[in-house]
Amino acid sequence: MTIESAQGSSLPADENTLPLTATSQIIGRNTEWWRSAVIYQIYPRSFADSDGDGIGDLAGIAQRLPSLAKLGIDAIWLSPFFTSPQNDAGYDVADYCDVDPLFGTLDDFDRLEKEAHRLGLRVIVDLVPNHTSTDHKWFTEALEAGPGSPERARYLFRDGQGANGEFPPNNWQSVFGGAAWSRTTNPDGRPGQWYLHLFDSSQPDLDWTNPWVHEQFREILRFWLRRGVDGFRVDVAHGLVKAAGLPDFFAPAVEEGASTASMSQPVDVPYWAQPGVHEIYRDWHRVLEEFEGDRVLCAEAWVEPLSKLANWVRPDEMQQAFNFSYLETPWSGPEIRAIVDESIAAFGSVGAPSTWVLSNHDVIRHASRLGMNPPPPQGSGIGPKSEHRPDEAVGLRRARAASLMMLALPGSGYVYQGEELGLPEVIDLPDKARQDPTFFRHHGEKYGRDGCRVPIPWESDAPGYGFSPTGESWLPQPTDWQDYARDSQDGVPGSTLELYTLALRTRASYNLGLGTLEWVDGYGDDVVAFTNGDVTVLANTGTIAVELPLGEILAASEDITEAALPGDTTVWMLRRD
Ligand code: GLC
Repeated sequence: MTIESAQGSSLPADENTLPLTATSQIIGRNTEWWRSAVIYQIYPRSFADSDGDGIGDLAGIAQRLPSLAKLGIDAIWLSPFFTSPQNDAGYDVADYCDVDPLFGTLDDFDRLEKEAHRLGLRVIVDLVPNHTSTDHKWFTEALEAGPGSPERARYLFRDGQGANGEFPPNNWQSVFGGAAWSRTTNPDGRPGQWYLHLFDSSQPDLDWTNPWVHEQFREILRFWLRRGVDGFRVDVAHGLVKAAGLPDFFAPAVEEGASTASMSQPVDVPYWAQPGVHEIYRDWHRVLEEFEGDRVLCAEAWVEPLSKLANWVRPDEMQQAFNFSYLETPWSGPEIRAIVDESIAAFGSVGAPSTWVLSNHDVIRHASRLGMNPPPPQGSGIGPKSEHRPDEAVGLRRARAASLMMLALPGSGYVYQGEELGLPEVIDLPDKARQDPTFFRHHGEKYGRDGCRVPIPWESDAPGYGFSPTGESWLPQPTDWQDYARDSQDGVPGSTLELYTLALRTRASYNLGLGTLEWVDGYGDDVVAFTNGDVTVLANTGTIAVELPLGEILAASEDITEAALPGDTTVWMLRRD
């Protein structure tokens, strides 16, 4: 028996798939929906601009939500829209419980959330607990209150080394480049203490040994939970707790004078993945349980190996963690099989679903990344002077194949806005347009992440491709994006948008998110072949076509004209035993 879901796809009936008439009823059902959900990341600055200032906003998002419901996703995650000076595109928060006027008001948020719930979409917001903005009143009060005050104890202020405190307290480097410490100036104009910032100097790290900080964040969680959000994506969830005494970091790269730390390191680092973070997430788990319904915490934790990352999703901690090891896996059959096995084993060992992700606002879009060999490391970006540029045609073809494979995997998938359009990374942004602090802190030597953040195209022949009524755009859009626009692809067979729509509908019909993966042998090393329930998936990462089994094709990333699966192509077939 099948029943119609709110989004019109045909789902097998079981206790988890009640008929949804008023879809807001989904809130309150304890379905552990996040185990299989496809969650769409909205980067508010670049999604849809309703007021024409060139920066996307909440009202713009609300207007465009029906397109996402039609796409067939289950939830949206909104990158930060909170009060912020925008030095790191909103990941520098000056007030966690208000909306920045750039994006609208709390009322706009409530309207957006209501509209999302009406459409059957859950809403996840971003929580940035590792650091605030220097504009946050907690920090300005700390500066005013001076050394030794309870206000300073909210952050990691320390005296400098050297006779006059002229050297930073330790050798830590900022992820965005340069030292992770900045020195303050006392009211009398003399240099004062230093404060830690693992990211930009406008993002001071909070001191999570201070119970006061814990209490603030419990209240911030409750503020948004009371407004009805379905969960939180937790920024830098491996960074909150630092090793006691803030010891120097003696990694080889730092000793050799490398200018930067990165989000993950293959060695023990005194500011990443400290065991103390887990008590924080147990505490937040309990806060979520104070509220009716099924809510989710998802860790942005760049932790390897996955068996260690699994600690973030133990039953009393978070529900999900981004699988960046999967994201970073090259387009290679053996490597993909290995990481999928490792993911399912690691997350499965603690009873959590694996997540799968290929793109987000911090990495080169996979339609370009998969056309580069090797791609630059996370955060480096590509620009006009980069030594290597992606092969766009190869990249897009692989991206379509990779996405179709990803959406067949059991667990929860993340989709970054624009990937359903096949958008590439924007490479030729002029230096003067760039805004990522990475670019400035590396004096232009690293391009950073602006290339994946360019406002997305909706209508091929509207100003700004329909992103903004005035055609304004905070990062310039390429002049040749007509074919990527949503209206150029909507209803067009073979378009990337139709491929995602078909994949999401088919994934729901066959309940692939809650399924079980079994490898299929016999197609050679290059072909990732597996079954998930009634569906057989074959992804050919090589160049040589392989013979397809007989059977009905449910979805294919390229036109399949013969009974053969060409290179860089994925197909879903109805399983035949
Ligand atoms: C996370 C965010 C990134 C931000 C950084 C500092 O990695 O995804 O965009 O710059 O944290 O908040």
